[in-house]
Amino acid sequence: MTIRFLGKKLKNPLVLASGVLGNNKEILERVHESGCGLVTMKSIGPAPRDGHKNPTVIDLGHGMINAVGLPTPGYNHMEEEWKALEKRNFPLNASIYGGSVKEYRTVAKFVSGKSPDFIEINISCPNSEQHGMIFGVNEESAFEVVSAVRQVTDIPLIAKLTPQAPDIAKIAKACEEAGADAICAINTAGPGMVIDIEAQMPILAFKKGGLSGPMIKPIAVRCVYDIYKAVSIPIIGLGGITTGEDAVEMIMAGATLVGIGSGVRYRGMGIFDLVNQELEAWLTAHGTTVDHILGSAHKNDPLQRGAQ
Ligand SMILES: Cc1cc2nc3c(=O)[nH]c(=O)nc-3n(C[C@H](O)[C@H](O)[C@H](O)COP(=O)(O)O)c2cc1C
Repeated sequence: MTIRFLGKKLKNPLVLASGVLGNNKEILERVHESGCGLVTMKSIGPAPRDGHKNPTVIDLGHGMINAVGLPTPGYNHMEEEWKALEKRNFPLNASIYGGSVKEYRTVAKFVSGKSPDFIEINISCPNSEQHGMIFGVNEESAFEVVSAVRQVTDIPLIAKLTPQAPDIAKIAKACEEAGADAICAINTAGPGMVIDIEAQMPILAFKKGGLSGPMIKPIAVRCVYDIYKAVSIPIIGLGGITTGEDAVEMIMAGATLVGIGSGVRYRGMGIFDLVNQELEAWLTAHGTTVDHILGSAHKNDPLQRGAQ
């Protein structure tokens, strides 16, 4: 099921979400070999950062809560990883973040020199006081970050958004106007909190964390649906996808590609092959194709694409 996305050929519409499997070339390669069409790196920041203290991730069964806190070696302390990734045989999406517009620009310029196939601008991380999300909840700052990055690279840009924006469609539109080539939605939802009732204290060391996995799928589907109406550029839809039928739902909401993050924990690395098979089976059983169902949930919506 090959697919063209921003001028590149992908072997299928599935994407590894940023942050769940790090930046090691061998692991990213294995993900691609396991049936993933596009592999996203963990977000790369402007300076070395340890992230938050443990515990940082809790599995709640119906999803996860995490406050990893954007740990990064820093863009210019990754020579080994960059060198290995130069010789890759899979499409790569490099995710970046900054604490200011200037930092986004600096990281983007450097990362652009490493020739990833796409650059994903993370303006949506909820787990850091200074980094990322503040830019994604406000149209002006989202516009400013994306246009600053646009000025320093010709590589296709994907803006990754947060469901915490008061109106995510307006943020997506601002990113499109600033030069983004695609939108990725959503980053984790929340923030939420889990309390250990015996210890009478929050379990996460950072106390609050972003929610992911099946419990956030309806939020993700709603966001993609709203964004699809507002922009003309393609969307990577993610949040809670673990089955082929979830992928069908996301495509019907308006996603050209479908991302998987927490699902790797629930179904293992084999999830990409499984979701591809389930998606194909569903399409065959219904005598249709991905192109035919893209955005099909909008067909009875009086507001047409691009009308908002
Ligand atoms: C442990 C963990 C780490 C994450 N790290 C990042 C990150 O570095 N950059 C980013 O843009 N998103 C990050 N995310 C968010 C995911 O990429 C994804 O947007 C979110 O988890 C929703 O998808 P899912 O329900 O399939 O997990 C992280 C998620 C988890 C669970």
